[in-house]
Amino acid sequence: MTEVQFILKSYSKTKESGQVTWESPSNIALVKYWGKKKGQIPENTSISFTLSNCKTITTVSFEPKSTNGFEFEVYLDGEKKEDFKPKIETFFKRIEGYVPFLKDFKFKIETKNTFPHSSGIASSASGMSALALCLMSIEQLVSQVEMTDSYFNQKASFLARLGSGSACRSIEGNLVVWGNHHAIPKSSDLFGIKYPLEVHKVFHNYQDTILLVDQGQKQVSSTIGHNLMHGHPFAQDRFKQANANIEKLIPVLSSGDLETFIELMESEALSLHAMMMTSLPYFILMKPHTLAIINKIWAFRKQTGLPVGFTLDAGANVHVLYPEKEKNKILEFIQNELVAFCENEQYICDQIGFGANQIQ
Ligand code: DP6
Repeated sequence: MTEVQFILKSYSKTKESGQVTWESPSNIALVKYWGKKKGQIPENTSISFTLSNCKTITTVSFEPKSTNGFEFEVYLDGEKKEDFKPKIETFFKRIEGYVPFLKDFKFKIETKNTFPHSSGIASSASGMSALALCLMSIEQLVSQVEMTDSYFNQKASFLARLGSGSACRSIEGNLVVWGNHHAIPKSSDLFGIKYPLEVHKVFHNYQDTILLVDQGQKQVSSTIGHNLMHGHPFAQDRFKQANANIEKLIPVLSSGDLETFIELMESEALSLHAMMMTSLPYFILMKPHTLAIINKIWAFRKQTGLPVGFTLDAGANVHVLYPEKEKNKILEFIQNELVAFCENEQYICDQIGFGANQIQ
């Protein structure tokens, strides 16, 4: 599959107006994407659990227009958001060649998240994937070409990637791989695919409790962080490490070996943050409470032998991952020992999910 296959060649302008709605989840990477080449191509393969409860719901209404250029308005929770426009404008510019009807319509984009907007949870993955899916549904309405579900999902992921890399892993569930890897058939740099190899049943309903340590605005955006991997002294070794971790994860995912799973996942999280700390300029996104939580998890695991581990995204929040059958004991531990380190004692209970849904 190459980019050419995603160019919409013919479409009618007879569909004058309409409205589509999609809900799309966030995802949490086990092996992290950190560093990219031109055109949103990842430097290494990444793999993520699609989440279930943390999602964005987006409605796009469209009507014809005769002016040149892009025309759109964005609303979050019913409030007009001028500051969201530049990112969407960049997205539209990047995808225009594949979605040629963008300049024929005026769009109203109305979006809301199921998680608090200021929670520090990456809304770009769920937000950009929801928007890409809405555009695909509009493409379906205006194009005369029959589209298979598999093409629809692939192109939605392809477009979402051009909005935000990790967003391409939010279209489907429950484990998604992005980035070409010799050990994963049909994996691609251009879009995410459902993990095609065997997955042990322990992972089918894996839990992710997200501890909201710091709900403020991040000091350094992911996009800037990715750029700092250019010329980073450890970049090449990091990309090799991530690709090697993908390979190590394959037998772990099929056997359900949770000890190695936790080791790989935690090592990935700390390697990601080590890259941030060794960038120039260097930066630290973890907070004292992030470290306090990590130490508590390690002590609890040592003491009880329960398979609980953590991962981090590009922020201070901690994702606590564990099997469903240990839910009661681990939630009790979270409530008794970890919630005190969360801002306003806030946390979100989530679990592995199955991807986006069309609402309308
Ligand atoms: C640490 O996908 O947010 O969450 O492509 O620049 O939008 P852009 O970056 P983004 O980066 C996500 C980085 C990460 C790791 C991951 O999700 O794999």
